Order: sequence, then C-alpha cells, then structure tokens
Amino acid sequence: MSKILLTGGAGFIGSHTAVALMDAGYDVVIADNLYNSEDVVIDRLEQITGKRPAFYAIDVADADQLAPVFAEHDIDGVIHFAGYKAVGESVQKPLAYYRNNLDTTLTLLETMAQAGVNRFVFSSSATVYGEENPCPLTETMPKGSCSNPYGWTKSMIEQILTDAAKAIPSLSVVLLRYFNPIGAHPSGLIGEDPQGIPNNLMPFITQVAVGKRPQLTVFGDDYDTPDGTCRRDYIHVMDLAEGHVKALEYAKGNTGAEVFNLGTGTPYSVLEVVHAFEEASGVPVPYVIGERRAGDLADVWADADKADRVLGWKTKRTLQDMCRDSWNWQSNNPSGYRG
Ligand code: UD1
Repeated sequence: MSKILLTGGAGFIGSHTAVALMDAGYDVVIADNLYNSEDVVIDRLEQITGKRPAFYAIDVADADQLAPVFAEHDIDGVIHFAGYKAVGESVQKPLAYYRNNLDTTLTLLETMAQAGVNRFVFSSSATVYGEENPCPLTETMPKGSCSNPYGWTKSMIEQILTDAAKAIPSLSVVLLRYFNPIGAHPSGLIGEDPQGIPNNLMPFITQVAVGKRPQLTVFGDDYDTPDGTCRRDYIHVMDLAEGHVKALEYAKGNTGAEVFNLGTGTPYSVLEVVHAFEEASGVPVPYVIGERRAGDLADVWADADKADRVLGWKTKRTLQDMCRDSWNWQSNNPSGYRG
C-alpha cells in the first residue's frame, strides 16, 4: 500500500487531506511540530477513518529529526503543508517566515533525495499571482508581486521546487495553488481552529455565530464589485483535500514541475458568504462595514479548467455545504480542539 508523508498533517488542510488519502486507500504518516495544531487531531483522524496514522511530533526543518521518519517508513510521496501562514504576522516577522518556510522545504527536499523519494506535492497559494493579473487567474499567467512575506515564501518555494525538478530528472513536483479553503469534514470532528482572533473570514463568522465575538467587520464595501464587498473563490476543504489525492496520482506518472489551481471558478462576495452562512446555520451574523484591509484585492478567483482537464478533478460541494460544515464543526467544538 502506498505510504504518504504529510508535513503539517495535523493542521487544517493537512488533516482533511489525511482523511481523503486514507479514504482512497493510502497509508498516512504525519510529521507536525504542533506549533499551530493539536495532537488530539490524530485521535480524531482515527475516529473518522478507523485507522490511526503514524505521527511524529518533530520539526521538519531539522534533518536529524526528519531522516528517521524516512528510515522507519517506505515513503512513496510527500505533501508539504508545514509552514507559517499568518499574513499580518509575516509583515511583522519576515525573517522568521523566510527562515521557517524555506528551511522546512529545503531540509525536506534534501532528506527525500537521500531516501530516494521523488514525489512532492506543495501547498501553495493563489497569492503568488500577485496584484497584476486579471481574474479568472490561469496557471499560464506570470506570477506577480506579493503584498507580504508569507506570500513571497510561497512564491519562492515554488521557484525552488521548479529548479529542483529541472535539475533532478526523477523528481516530480506538483504545485497546488489554493484559493480560499473553508468548510470542514462533515463529521464535525476536524476543522479550522485558529489561535486568537481569526484573520480569515469564515472562522470569524463562525466565532460570531457561536457567541465568541460580538460582530463581524466587513473590510470595505466600496470595491468595484456588484455589492461593493470583495469577492473570493471559496472552496470546500474536502474538495481541496481530494485534489491532493489526484495530484499525487498525477505525480506518479510524470516528472518535472506542474502547477494547478485548486478553486471552484465561482466567486462570492463577503456579504454573499455572510448570508449563505445565516441560511445554512439559521443563526444571524451581526456585522458592521469597516475600513478596507491593507493588501486586499477586489476580486480573486480561479480558472479551474486545468485541474479538471489534466487531473480529472473538480469541486463537488456548494457554498451551502461549506457553510453547513463550517458551522457543524464550530458548534460542536465551540473552543476548537482546546474545548
Ligand atoms: C488571505 C491571504 C492569503 C492567504 C489566505 C489563507 C490576505 C491579503 N490574503 O486570503 O494570502 O493565502 O488568506 O487563508 O490576507 N474579510 C472581512 N472581515 C474579516 C475577515 C475577512 O471582511 O474579518 C474579507 C476580506 O476582506 C476578504 C475576504 O473576507 O475580502 C476573505 O478574507 P480572508 O479569509 O482573510 O482570505 P484572503 O484575504 O482572500
């Protein structure tokens, strides 16, 4: 049975991908330093799938900790989720972001090379398209300038992986550019659990709905969009997770580096998401209109055609599904995993 290492596999997207992989018959090994996640996630994965993934609470940037994982398991491929991901914090602590996100990737690549593992799927972001490209964003567009160090780490890691794939003929790299993942596994056992005040829209909405925060601030309603609020391509995290399974299958039959958007191709505005959430949950979400947030773009959405054509993957779940599952997770775990 094929065995896949997930770095950052206890995090939001990593844990959902672990479920999708186990559902597809893969064995999963998780390496995660629990910087932004909890070890109870491993118990929850076992509850959902009936199988307990192997788990290493290690720092992937440390080759001495990582090499034994490859020695103990016959790893067929790696999906690299581990990394710092808070946009605002990355502006305050750029060196920490570059150090951590680049070091983990380089150590992982070197350790994989020593172990003879050559399938690498990377957790990238639509942020690498920058501000210059018009929507829908297509993989053939040139990458742009990122508005923050977090985004630049994704862009730089894409470059590192592309160069590595050119130099190492056996290496197969798939760069997955995520749009806006929300939702949760329908069991309500795993979901997004941000520390402190959420930066992202859906966790903020669910925390308002559950009574942890009084109201949502909508960041600007004077954008050049139909209702004046920003539009994004929200994607159900289980659809996203299934995209990783397809990417691994693709990496098995190909070498070189290939880029895929993982999005739905359909944008929704902030207010459309708020109203869809209220409908799906039956809970009102009080909001006020605030100032624009620095660095936000009016519109970000994917051309989702390439993943459909080449990977045979497209999203199946609706905005209603995303809102229902986000609410199911939050209402069952009002304080997240620490509840
Ligand atoms: C953000 C990051 C992106 C990163 C992604 C990871 C920025 C500029 N971009 O994307 O690089 O890959 O998160 O998940 O930070 N909104 C509100 N009120 C809130 C929170 C959000 O109105 O309290 C609005 C935002 O203005 C935006 C939309 O909701 O229009 C989505 O915001 P968010 O969930 O933070 O995602 P992005 O900004 O698209």
